[in-house]
Amino acid sequence: MKPIYVLNGPNLNMLGLREPAIYGSETLKDVEARCLARASELGFAIDFRQTNIEGELVSWIHEARTKASGIALNAGAYTHTSIALHDALKAADVPAVEVHLSNVHKREAFRHHSFIAPAVNGVICGLGINSYELAISALASIITANKKG
Ligand code: DQA
Repeated sequence: MKPIYVLNGPNLNMLGLREPAIYGSETLKDVEARCLARASELGFAIDFRQTNIEGELVSWIHEARTKASGIALNAGAYTHTSIALHDALKAADVPAVEVHLSNVHKREAFRHHSFIAPAVNGVICGLGINSYELAISALASIITANKKG
């Protein structure tokens, strides 16, 4: 079974230090551990990555087309700016879920629009690390259902 790619964009390497009132005190390593545990319970492997570079996310999403069974993507601020990520997700043609730790709809107006949302199966936001776990659960269901269908 191909792994689920869990891809993280800019500034997520700063989790734990960065605006803890919004993002909490847990680090990206903690997020990875929770994703790994959830995926293992569901019989999936994960490939967990972070980059601050938009083009690197684009390349990883392309790679997912043949190497991953699905994508959980927290693109950080690129969510609100990147048509390139939208196009990459369309090209990847694997199940994908957009993830955010914070409830972007409760925050500044510039976070209310996502270029990624129209290119993914669903969006989960505002639930802290649970957002990631729920994304993995959702992807596992979609992938399993696709296999049967
Ligand atoms: C975020 C929300 C984005 O608006 C922000 O730019 C981030 C993190 C989140 O996980 O809540 O970097 O994606």
